[in-house]
Formats: sequence, structure tokens, C-alpha cells
Amino acid sequence: NRRVTVRDLAAAKQRGERWAMLTAYDSLTAGVFDEAGIPVLLVGDSAGNCALGYESTVPVTMDEMTILSAAVVRGTKRAMVVGDLPFGSYQESPAQALRNAARLMKEAGVGAVKLEGGERSARTIELLVESGVPVMAHVGLTPQSVHALGGYPVQGRGEEAAHRLQRDAKAVQEAGAFAVVLEAVPAELAAQVTAELAIPTVGIGAGVGCDAQVLVWTDMAGMNPGHTPKFVKQYADLRGVLGAAARQYADEVRGGTFPDQAHSFK
Ligand code: KIV
Ligand code: NA
Repeated sequence: NRRVTVRDLAAAKQRGERWAMLTAYDSLTAGVFDEAGIPVLLVGDSAGNCALGYESTVPVTMDEMTILSAAVVRGTKRAMVVGDLPFGSYQESPAQALRNAARLMKEAGVGAVKLEGGERSARTIELLVESGVPVMAHVGLTPQSVHALGGYPVQGRGEEAAHRLQRDAKAVQEAGAFAVVLEAVPAELAAQVTAELAIPTVGIGAGVGCDAQVLVWTDMAGMNPGHTPKFVKQYADLRGVLGAAARQYADEVRGGTFPDQAHSFK
């Protein structure tokens, strides 16, 4: 009963087997996904928007990521748990990145870390991998740069941008990353990058031609309010289900029908 490892994921690419990844931010939800057989769970810094109430991932801290990652590890048995390095925790130097990656491994027990950036993060990825930290890279749209990008635009459109994306993907593979997230990339380009790489690509808004897919769990389960991005498919309406349960409970308390005898002690 061991956890999924980087070798399992490399073997899956060899066999042409596709796999699904979901985010998780707490032990109960992570346990549900683990029992459902999701092989890789990402404690994404999307926790900023989806669990902590921030407007972007930018404010998320190492303390927050450590607490959430530890909860996800405790709530799971089989999944590989990947901890996201938040904005500002790895860009200063490879040494800073190693210190914070080691913290997520030692204090939270994650099996790998993820960080954003292609060529710009290659030196950092190299040091982490040499030091024994499995690294999932993340290229294309990198949400921690939301203020520099002026939003969340699709990446890799046009010849020059496509070449830049290909260079970024190759740079993280050469640096030793065991997988790479491709976010908000035209499907055809993502499929081409996937064919060119030996490591698995994990698409989000990147079409069906990647080796694996990832979705933010609160998007996938219909838990987030407001606008749903084009690449998100809602597999459930949890917001509706939970809201209805809360309204019925409150109605029954107000009406004096809960608690009834069946839910009271004699
Ligand atoms: O933080 C996150 O959830 C992510 C995935 C969307 C890849 O980085
Ligand atoms: Na992230």
C-alpha cells in the first residue's frame, strides 16, 4: 500500500496511459479523491481563491501552504501529494526554493513540489532535483504573474509565443522536472509539446492531447460562485446541494421540526 511515485507516472507515459489530477486543500475532500483513485493530488496555491478567500494566488504564504498540504497528506493513503510553492517563496534564489521545498516535504510530508516558470526557473529546478526534491513544473499561463500579465490570457498564440512555450517546456524537462503543467495553451500546441517531451504533460485549458489533466476541485464540483472558465467542466453542483441542505436545516430549526425525537436522547 505505497503511494504513487514519479516512476509510476513515467511508466504511465511509456504505456500511453492517461491520468487525472485534482487540487485538494483539506483532509476530508482529499480522502474522497484518494478513495476515488485520483493518483495525484495538488495542494495548489489556488487555495488562495478557493479556500482562503483571497482574490488571486499572490497573497498565499508558506505557512498557509504548509498547513493545507499537511492536512491533505494526513487525509490520503495512496495519492502522490504535490505541494505548490507560493509566490515569493522560490524566485529569490535556488537556495530559497530548496529551503521552502524542504519545509513542505519535512513539515507537511508532500512527495513533490510544483513551481511556475520555464527557462526562468530551470536553475532552481536543477538544484531541487539534485537535492532529491521531485519537481512538477508549470508553464504557459502562470497565475502568480497575474499583475505582470494584466489578467489570465491564453498563452502560446502566434509563432513566437509558441516557440517560447516549446523552449520553456524543454528547459524544465532538461532541468529534471518529472512532469509539467501546461495552462491555457491552444490544444494543437499542447499536443505538439506533449509529443516532443519524454515527461508527462498535465493540461488545464490545454486540450485533450496532453498526457494528463488537472482541474481545480471546487471548479470541477460546482462549488465556486460566479463565472466558470471555458475549460472547466462541472461534474457536480455542490454549491446547490450544500445551499439546499443549509436552507432546509435552518427552516426545520425555525419551524421546531428539528431536532425531533429520533435525534434526541431519552
Ligand atoms: O494552484 C493550482 O491549482 C494550479 C493548477 C491549476 C495547475 O496550479
Ligand atoms: Na498554482
